[in-house]
Amino acid sequence: MSRQAENIVWHQHAVTAEMRETLHRHRGAVVWFTGLSGSGKSTLSGAVELALHQLGISSFLLDGDNVRQGLCRDLGFSDEDRKENIRRISEVANLMADAGLIVLTAFISPHRSERQVARELIGDERFIEIFVDTPVEICEQRDPKGLYRKARAGEIKDFTGIGSGYEPPLTPELKVDGQQLVTKLSEQIIDLLRERAIIPA
Ligand code: ADX
Repeated sequence: MSRQAENIVWHQHAVTAEMRETLHRHRGAVVWFTGLSGSGKSTLSGAVELALHQLGISSFLLDGDNVRQGLCRDLGFSDEDRKENIRRISEVANLMADAGLIVLTAFISPHRSERQVARELIGDERFIEIFVDTPVEICEQRDPKGLYRKARAGEIKDFTGIGSGYEPPLTPELKVDGQQLVTKLSEQIIDLLRERAIIPA
C-alpha cells in the first residue's frame, strides 16, 4: 500500500521549529490521550484545550470521531485500518507540533505498537501519553453514542472493549482516573505541561 519515497530529499526551510516556538512563547508538543470509547478522552482533551487557550497557548485538538469524517473517512475498524488511522494522525500531529502548537489527540489508539511508533516519530521529549483509565463497565453504562448497546446486540462486531482488544499503556506519562472531575484532571495535565517546561510556569 505505501509507496516508498524514492528520489525525495528533505528540504530544510529557513524558518525552523525552534523559531516558531520562540514566536509562540511555548514549545510544540503532542498530548496523546488513549482509552476506551466513552472513557472521557474527548471531554478531557476539550477541557485541556480550553484551559490552554485561556492561558494564551496555541493548540489544536484532533478527535477520532471528527477526523474519521474527513482525513480518515476511508478507514474502518479492522486492525489494519486502525493502524493506518493512527499513522496518519501521528504524521499530522507531528507537523502541527513542528508548527509550534500543543496538539491534543483523542483516539482510542488501542495498540501499544502504534502508540510507540507515534512516540518515535514525534520524539520522546515532546510526546505526552495520557491513559484515560475508565473501566469498560463504566464506559458501557455511559454509552454516550449508543454504540456499546449496538455492539452487545451484535451490530458492531469489532467494537473496542467488546469484540476487539485494548492494550493499556504500561508506562504512560500520566494515568488519570476517568471517573474523577474533568476540571481536576485538566489542571493535573496543565501542571504536567508546566513541569516539563512545554508551557511557561
Ligand atoms: S481507533 O481505534 O482507530 O483509534 P478512533 O478513536 O479513531 O478509533 O475512533 C473511535 C470512535 O469511533 C469511537 O469513539 C466510536 O464513536 C466510533 N466507533 C465506531 N465503530 C467503532 C468500533 N468498531 N470500535 C471502536 N470505536 C468505534
